[in-house]
Order: sequence, then structure tokens, then C-alpha cells
Amino acid sequence: MRVFLTGGAGYIGSHTLLEVLSEAHEVCVYDDYSNSSPHALTRVEQLTNRKFDVVQGDILDQSGLAAALVTFKPDVVVHFAGKKAVGESVEKPLMYYENNVVGTLSLLRAMEAADCNRIVFSSSATVYGTPQYLPLDENHPLSATNPYGQTKLMVEHILRDWCGARPAATAVLLRYFNPVGAHDSGIIGEDPNDIPNNLMPFVSQVAVGRREKLQVFGNDYDTPDGTGVRDYIHVVDLAKAHAAAISFASAHTGCEAINVGTGRGSSVLDVVRAFEAASGRVVPYEVVQRRAGDVATYCALPEKARNLLGWQAKRDLADMCASAWKWQSQNPDGYKD
Ligand code: NAD
Ligand code: UFG
Repeated sequence: MRVFLTGGAGYIGSHTLLEVLSEAHEVCVYDDYSNSSPHALTRVEQLTNRKFDVVQGDILDQSGLAAALVTFKPDVVVHFAGKKAVGESVEKPLMYYENNVVGTLSLLRAMEAADCNRIVFSSSATVYGTPQYLPLDENHPLSATNPYGQTKLMVEHILRDWCGARPAATAVLLRYFNPVGAHDSGIIGEDPNDIPNNLMPFVSQVAVGRREKLQVFGNDYDTPDGTGVRDYIHVVDLAKAHAAAISFASAHTGCEAINVGTGRGSSVLDVVRAFEAASGRVVPYEVVQRRAGDVATYCALPEKARNLLGWQAKRDLADMCASAWKWQSQNPDGYKD
């Protein structure tokens, strides 16, 4: 199949690119590198020994995007391009609505111009808001607690309505839990521009000596050790879920929301211990105040992915930490060198 990846140079996009190339699909990456490096693409090319098209562009550039799609003629689009920092979305909501919501409208118009009816969308477990029960299944009520979450919810609604209006259309809304880790080679991985917001990249940077210590945001939650529990999903498993979603989209119409998680929760201290074991380094930490907006536990019910996509996560927390460490220790400054 012909697969068009918006945001394909980013963290999840580059791992998915590698997976999709290994399945012999033809690929075009469309990315403005606003939060990524073209080096990630060069490295995927080296790892797979496969060529693919690359267009540097902004999804908000409606005519440029339409031209890229009309030229490439994709069977399916995988839409990663978007902004993802919760705190920044609170400070700059218009930038988030514009990039994530208006950007998706621009993409759908361009897809219509190119007669492409299939999309796989990077949604997030954040659309469940504060859990009313656990584990979270796809029928859990939806809500958003910040502008970033609102954009994911809005795009889900837009895609549902788009499919409703087009009998031939398919949208697979993949609701990611907490993606972490890197490719086993350690050649591609997560390369945050600034101080990492998320736990795993922060822990890796402490282990490699780029930061002094981790701040653990609260140890008084109602969890086994008092620290926050999340469903961490290895980015390679997540990439394989996209490959499965692409196959699913080629054989079905309509809109499906599907959780992508492991169904297992790990606490902040579980992650610290697993990272210490994987790296052989000590990860100093101090417990500080809870972070505003955090919940105690987030965990997926991953059955729907198994039933519809024939996909389930295979890698555990030790694999996630080992691969994150390999990437971090081989590339202490990410793609910058
Ligand atoms: P990322 O920032 O590494 O990748 C996003 C890519 O999109 C980057 O390469 C960036 O340059 C590109 N991009 C952003 N705006 C663009 C625009 N206007 N035009 C063209 N390209 C643009 O992020 P990621 O972690 O790989 O996340 C990918 C998607 O998955 C995002 O939509 C994110 O919201 C979603 N998601 C991520 C997580 C996570 O924890 N990483 C969790 C749930 C959902
Ligand atoms: N944490 C720390 N110290 C840190 C960073 C995080 O203790 O320096 C803790 C948090 O309090 C939380 C856990 O580690 O208990 C995980 O935090 P992350 O920031 O890594 O992930 P979140 O679950 O808060 O958020 C992530 C994405 C969101 C997405 C959400 C739901 O960043 O975009 O998962 O899937 F919406």
C-alpha cells in the first residue's frame, strides 16, 4: 500500500516509518521538523536500506499539503503531526487548536482532493479525562481537562462525522497510553527539544548525567507505593499497532476508537527501579508536590485492539528501559550531533 505519514520524522512517526517500510509499503513523510530532526529519517533509511519520499511542509499549508497528497496518491494517511505538550497547550491554546484541529481539517480537505478515504489518527488516552473506572475501555465517557486533550477530542468528533458523511471512509482513532522506549538498535529514539515533560525521557537524562535528579510528583496517591501509575507502552509495539491499523483500515469502513496499551500499570518508582537495573546507573530522586492535573492511575483495557487488529503488546517495562537506555547512552545529545 501507499502510506502517507504526517509528522513521520517525530518520535512515534519515525518508529512507525521503520515498521511500515519493513512491511514493504511505499511511504511519503510530510513534516515541517518543528519538533523533530531530518536526521531521524536518514537513520531510518540506513536501518531499513529502503528509500521513501520526504516533503518538508506544514499541514497548515493547505495547497502544499494537497499537492503532496495528489502527487503521492496514498491509500492511507497516518496522522501524527501535532503539538503534544499539555502545559504549553494551557499557555498557548490558540496555537494548539490551530495546529491540531485546523491542521486536521486541512489534511482532510487535501485527502478529499487526492481521493484518499482512509486515515489512522494519533489520539490519546487523555480523552478519557479523570477515570470513572479502571481499566479504561473505549466506552468510558470522554472529557478533556486541558486544551491539548480538547484538540484530540475535537479531532475524534471531526473524524467520526467525516466517516458518517462518506460511506467509503475509514478512520482508526488509536488512543495511545504512555509511549516510551526506543528501537532495539538504539539508533532512533525520543529526542525532546527542551526539558522533558514526561517521566521516561527525564529519567534517561538523569541516568546519563544530563540532569541531576528526578522530581517524583507526589507519593501520597492511592496506589501501591503512593506514586502515579501509568500503562507504559513500548514505542516499537505502538509502531506495530499502526501497521495493524493500516491493514484494518484497508479492509473496513467506518470509525473505530481503539486503545493502545498493555493493560499493566507501573508506578513512578517501578520505572526508576527498572531503569536502574537496565542502565546499571543510580537514578537519584526527590519526592515533591503533586503535579497539577495528574491522576493516580491510568490503565488500558487492550482487548479491542486484540480483537479488531490482531495486535497485542509484547514488550515489558524492562525492554522499554533497556531500549531507552541504549538510545540515550549512544546518543546523549539526541540527534544534535
Ligand atoms: P513528536 O513531536 O515527536 O512528533 C510530531 C511530529 O509532527 C514532529 O516531527 C513535528 O515536527 C511534526 N509536526 C508538528 N506540527 C506540524 C505541522 N503543523 N506540520 C507538519 N509537521 C508537524 O510527537 P510524538 O510523540 O511522535 O507524537 C505523535 C502524535 O501522537 C502527536 O499527535 C501526539 O499528540 C500523539 N500522542 C503522543 C503521545 C506521547 O506521549 N508521545 C501520547 C498520546 C498521543
Ligand atoms: N512524573 C514524575 N516526574 C516527572 C515526570 C512525570 O513523577 O518529572 C510522574 C507523573 O506525575 C505521572 C507519571 O510520572 O504519575 C507519568 O507522567 P508523564 O508526564 O510521563 O505522563 P502522563 O501520564 O502525565 O501524560 C502522558 C502524555 C499526555 C497524555 C497522557 C495520557 O504526556 O500527553 O499520557 O495518555 F495525554
